[in-house]
Amino acid sequence: MRAPEPAAAGEPALAVDGVVAGYGGGDVLHGVTFSVTEGGLTCIVGPNGSGKSTLLATISGLLKPSRGSITFRGEPIAGKSPRQILDLGIVLVPQNHSLFREMTVRENIELGGYTLRSSALVAKRRAHVEEIFPQVAGWARQKAGSLSGGQQRLVEFARCLMLDPGLVILDEPSMGLSPKVLKSVFDAVRLMRASGKTILLVEQNARAGLRLSTHGVVMENGRVRLQGTGREVLEHPESGALYLGGAVTPVNGNGNGDCEPGPGAGARAPGQAS
Ligand SMILES: Nc1ncnc2c1ncn2[C@@H]1O[C@H](COP(=O)(O)OP(=O)(O)O)[C@@H](O)[C@H]1O
Ligand SMILES: [Mg+2]
Repeated sequence: MRAPEPAAAGEPALAVDGVVAGYGGGDVLHGVTFSVTEGGLTCIVGPNGSGKSTLLATISGLLKPSRGSITFRGEPIAGKSPRQILDLGIVLVPQNHSLFREMTVRENIELGGYTLRSSALVAKRRAHVEEIFPQVAGWARQKAGSLSGGQQRLVEFARCLMLDPGLVILDEPSMGLSPKVLKSVFDAVRLMRASGKTILLVEQNARAGLRLSTHGVVMENGRVRLQGTGREVLEHPESGALYLGGAVTPVNGNGNGDCEPGPGAGARAPGQAS
């Protein structure tokens, strides 16, 4: 299967429209609509359990939507297998660490190119990836399991670039990392974008993720509650309460306009039926 041509810059690379999906015990996504701009960085934020990973699983073919459409560079992909979607150029770096700990960094990275047919192409891609992430080249012979959490994230990023993807999907790359290490992971996300990649990022460090992004999407209860430019979402009076699960700031007055998280983690936005 040939990967589709990129959309024009600024056009949607990925369009998700009215997607309903779940795990059999009921729907988790209740009609999700948003798009990812070609060349941009779209950041999805929202409280735990709002369906972000489920959405990513649906885009990457691990779950089949029962309704709605997903289009990548003009080609409908809903219902295709994970392998077909990978071949079209969509790669997912999952939420949980996914390296083979007993294998070397280089072996892990080369595994990212396991669908490539020629070893010359694997070598060429590896050289390119090591140019983008020179630190990773320095760890080539170490066992992946001997690296720190932040270093492993960089190796996962390098591995996902082996297929020269048209869309890189990152599910909470900063999860479990210390604040000191976060910056290096966000810098690496920036580097991937600068190397020309279109990125869909799910991030629990909502502010940091939105600051990196061109577009922001806030999910809650399997629905998109807000979307706009990264800045619009960051500055929206309701978004702090929504994505940080903090104290609710009433949008109709009385509030102090502050969207910092309150102590009541897990609180819902006003008027949200579940
Ligand atoms: N493999 C699964 N099987 C059944 N239910 C699941 C599975 N994964 C997630 N869920 C449920 O789907 C909902 C959304 O979860 P998830 O997509 O992981 O949210 P998020 O990534 O936003 O934290 C939760 O209620 C969760 O319990
Ligand atoms: Mg998740």
